[in-house]
Amino acid sequence: MSFNSQNYYALREEFEKKHLAAVERAETRRASLEMKIKELREINDALSLTASRIFGAALEGKDGLDDRIAKIKKNTADLREARDAVLLAAGYPKDYLDIKYDCEKCNDLGFVDAKMCDCFKRALILKGYETSGLGALIGKQTFENYSLNYFRGDDLVRMKQNYEIVHDYAKSFSKKSDSLLFMGGTGLGKTHLSSALAKTVIDSGYDVLYTSALNMISDFEKAKFKGEGDTSRYFDAELLIIDDLGTEGSGAFTESFVYNVIDTRICKGLPTVVSTNLTAHELSARYGERIFSRLLGVYKPLVFCGNDVRFEKR
Ligand SMILES: Nc1ncnc2c1ncn2[C@@H]1O[C@H](COP(=O)(O)OP(=O)(O)OP(=O)(O)O)[C@@H](O)[C@H]1O
Ligand SMILES: [Mg+2]
Ligand SMILES: [Zn+2]
Repeated sequence: MSFNSQNYYALREEFEKKHLAAVERAETRRASLEMKIKELREINDALSLTASRIFGAALEGKDGLDDRIAKIKKNTADLREARDAVLLAAGYPKDYLDIKYDCEKCNDLGFVDAKMCDCFKRALILKGYETSGLGALIGKQTFENYSLNYFRGDDLVRMKQNYEIVHDYAKSFSKKSDSLLFMGGTGLGKTHLSSALAKTVIDSGYDVLYTSALNMISDFEKAKFKGEGDTSRYFDAELLIIDDLGTEGSGAFTESFVYNVIDTRICKGLPTVVSTNLTAHELSARYGERIFSRLLGVYKPLVFCGNDVRFEKR
């Protein structure tokens, strides 16, 4: 499993806090109940000596050690039983003083024997959704609720093929996957398939960043002209999805930002998915040869066709 390292470190801290909070809550329960029930305190004090008693028994030598240990164990078991009885008599469940972790496998530490616990993996995925940039779209536009019923004839053949390519791409995504170019008019499901793709890839444990071209350019402008923010994820995310290329303002800076992202990711071998309403001709006219040849030469183009699904759905 690979992951966004910022998310990873943030989560490690969160888990550590969660673990400590569970310990503290148990400690508070114990302290306040011991104030109420004196006997409980005596039993707990006696129990807390168990380890040093065993240590002491060992220091006395090997002779009769087993017997001494057995005695201590018996005594400890008796004390525990007595404690359970005291708790029950006072109306508390016998596990009332135990530390209660959300995850009993890892005690909320996120790791068991240096191996990532499932609960930590799930948390990483949820954090991946949060930092994917997809916001409310995540989980709404999925492969499951994508339908081919909106298309007929040749359009259907083409859209079915697109769906299968994107679905396979998502399921078998790796850092070595190709880059894709979704081309086609408005309302044909480019964003829908992009979010479905993003969710599936995040679920497989990859770091995905979804952005509109407009937002991406605005981030680069902020970084360049105001020194604000951080654009590194555009270059590092294991999958970058740039939606609506062509809706950002035009100009030399915009073009250089777009070129820089696209070219750097190609050089690093990192996959990118770009969507656009522009035709090949418009792409070439707008972005020039350097960007155009990369988008149509290196990326795998998928042409979306049919009638605007936004209308069909009404
Ligand atoms: N094949 C489909 N099955 C189910 N819903 C679809 C399908 N295609 C599109 N939709 C829905 O139609 C709406 C428009 O689709 P979407 O936003 O993906 O289009 P788009 O190609 O990104 O358009 P634009 O170029 O305007 O951004 C969305 O609500 C989407 O969920
Ligand atoms: Mg769209
Ligand atoms: Zn766990």
